[in-house]
Amino acid sequence: MKVYLETMGCQMNRLDSELVTVSLRAAGHEMTDDRCDADVVLYNTCSVRRHAEEKVYSRLGGDSRRKAHHRPRLILGVLGCMAQREGAELANRFGLLDIVCGPGQLARLPELISAAADGSRVVALDPDPIEARRGAKATEGAASADDSDFDALDLARDFQDGHAGAQAYVRVMKGCDNFCTYCIVPLVRGPERSRRPERIAQEVRRLVDAGVSEVTLIGQTVNRYRWSDGSRTFAFSDLLADVSEIAGLRRLRFVTSHPLDFTNDILHVMAERANICEYIHLPPQSGSDAILRRMNRKYTRSQYDELIDRAREIVPGVVLAGDFIVGFPGEAEADHEASADLIRRSGFKNSFVFKYSPRPGTAAARTMLDDVPDEVKRRRNNELLAVQHEVGLAHCRSYIATTVEVLVEGPSVRAGKQGFEPTPQRTQLAGRTRGSHIVHFLGPERLAGQYVNVHITDATALSLQGDREAGQE
Ligand code: 5AD
Ligand code: SF4
Repeated sequence: MKVYLETMGCQMNRLDSELVTVSLRAAGHEMTDDRCDADVVLYNTCSVRRHAEEKVYSRLGGDSRRKAHHRPRLILGVLGCMAQREGAELANRFGLLDIVCGPGQLARLPELISAAADGSRVVALDPDPIEARRGAKATEGAASADDSDFDALDLARDFQDGHAGAQAYVRVMKGCDNFCTYCIVPLVRGPERSRRPERIAQEVRRLVDAGVSEVTLIGQTVNRYRWSDGSRTFAFSDLLADVSEIAGLRRLRFVTSHPLDFTNDILHVMAERANICEYIHLPPQSGSDAILRRMNRKYTRSQYDELIDRAREIVPGVVLAGDFIVGFPGEAEADHEASADLIRRSGFKNSFVFKYSPRPGTAAARTMLDDVPDEVKRRRNNELLAVQHEVGLAHCRSYIATTVEVLVEGPSVRAGKQGFEPTPQRTQLAGRTRGSHIVHFLGPERLAGQYVNVHITDATALSLQGDREAGQE
């Protein structure tokens, strides 16, 4: 069958979709980019903000009409966080939906598609995340030595296929137990579980053997990675040190980190290992103690500031990025100012700014009034972005007249808009530095996947521009 798979949300979803694609191909299906031509239409969804969910409802509305009027055999499926959050209710709301598949059930997707082709409606959900946590508590100690294949999808990875050239993601942990009051993740992605270190190292080794040179370790709170078999405990710093030793791995990254668990061991490993990139995505969410407390972030503003100072001291040239929520319940102008001040003080390369969106079932949605009007959220969003623009521009301009190493991704979206006709021998290329800056420069297309040195001549708040150093291939 021809399968259309659209992915919303975070890196975790992107990796899930990559792995699902491989398993569907192995089961004999063919992938298509054309939704209207597909026999199976799947959405790998995100529940973090309401906006992302609304997009899926609207897509499903259109697909349901098409199925009702023209394509009775079309198979429609919702995967991932929204499937888990809404479960059978989603199937009730969209009467023509065939598959509802939670994020921990994706390894079963080929089997679910076969069942749907035979006319069944299938709802495959993960165990109730709150119940699952009670179960894990009861068997504490055995929990991390448990080899139950919660990483079945990862273990089935095809190393010749499914990753984008030189770069790949590798999952190190799943779930989250932090319960920030605004966040749906602990309710849909289940309890925090770390993978066995040997499995992670083996996956990276096999990716490197297949030609990957940059690996990003991913987890909802990646720096809380912890694996123990009773006799030895493996922390995130140990995992980083181990993986960084894999021969042929030129760049090692990780996302996303929680400020609370960012120990000096991690910073020291970053400083010591040449292939660990000096880039940390470290979401503060707010710069105000009152709001951080209500968000249940478990750190204060001064602890965050102190962490940034430590990071800059221990890891020379470290590049930092943040996430912020504006308009959290009770956020006053002074709290908002504190977030702007935090951006200035931290010198972030970039920040993602989100308007608070109450998520059903979270503590904030249950107990706090969404009392910041939408137009205030919008203004604060724009104001934080304007501050970040200033800070980002100063940060990027500090690279002018330096030379940076760039992993070339391929022709830039700007190619063709430069006042000359691009050719395979000379086009506008885009790539990333170790600090995750986007760099534009002219060169031949065949450099995609390679590392080149670029002399920076200009910068915007979001990217660097430069010339490839002479004499390089
Ligand atoms: N409303 C708005 N933004 C949210 N995020 C998480 N939950 C919400 C919510 N309910 C943001 C946080 C997080 C990013 C992935 O999404 O900033 O870091
Ligand atoms: Fe959500 Fe907080 Fe967990 Fe991040 S740490 S996934 S924001 S609950």
